[in-house]
Amino acid sequence: MLIVSCSHGKHLDSLIAKKSGINHSILHVDKFPDDELRVRFEPELKNKSIALIQSFYKNISDCIIEVILAAKTAKELGAKKVILVAPYFPYMRQDKRFHKGEAVSQLIVTGLIGKYFDAVYLMDPHLHRKNKLGHIFKIKSKKLTANGLIAAYIRKHIKNPAIIGPDEESYKWAKNVAEMIDAESMILNKKRYSSHHVEIKLNKKINLRNKNAVIVDDIISTGNTILETAKILRRLGAKKIYCICVHGIFVNDALSKLKKAKINVISTNTIPNKAARIDVSGLIAESFKDLD
Ligand code: R5P
Repeated sequence: MLIVSCSHGKHLDSLIAKKSGINHSILHVDKFPDDELRVRFEPELKNKSIALIQSFYKNISDCIIEVILAAKTAKELGAKKVILVAPYFPYMRQDKRFHKGEAVSQLIVTGLIGKYFDAVYLMDPHLHRKNKLGHIFKIKSKKLTANGLIAAYIRKHIKNPAIIGPDEESYKWAKNVAEMIDAESMILNKKRYSSHHVEIKLNKKINLRNKNAVIVDDIISTGNTILETAKILRRLGAKKIYCICVHGIFVNDALSKLKKAKINVISTNTIPNKAARIDVSGLIAESFKDLD
């Protein structure tokens, strides 16, 4: 087996290789003057299983084309199996036609990936209405979760925590983590008006006096969900406010807005960013155990 890192997998590839003991190499990626992508493998791929690592957090469309070019090429060069390992996989939130005439991008993108790969391994994919990977991929799929690592982080670093999920979509992370550390939890209600405008409401009242409120969610993008949630938690008397996410996308100045609002931000390293304190490379390395 061989690990090959794509353009957005380099922050994790050597860690995964070291922990799994599997050789790794990089996919050479560059652009022609007109912006077309060119990808090239260096090592011999014949009869090998190839794990392509790509985290789709920036220039997402290029990231998708890149893995498709790579997967097809690997097969043409004799690879036995090609697996996509995505610490962060995109387009998962667009899982229904929210507005008339809109694309259900989740199914289109997963359908496209399914045509070129033998299997996908995704870290905490945003599964909501379609709540199993088997519902959206026709190929073998494996879901990895950082919940255990997040729970361990809270146990070690945050005293007297109350776990808060900002919306019903976050219960898979917030509720699960709360159960792991035996902490009180509360799931709030979110109404999204646009990508930048959300409204958060309380379902039930909880007393947060003397507690550290820890908002747990899968993704932080603009940061507005967390900012709005934090306002409520302060009103409820929370001592300190933390937020922990798996995928810290932090578009534009999201991270500094959160820090300015005195929110302690922690994320995993599925996406490289300044708040990444939880390392998922061991989980990914472990998942390769059942591969030949
Ligand atoms: C959606 O349900 C996700 O779990 C996150 O809550 C959402 O993507 C956060 O987005 P933003 O940071 O832009 O508010």
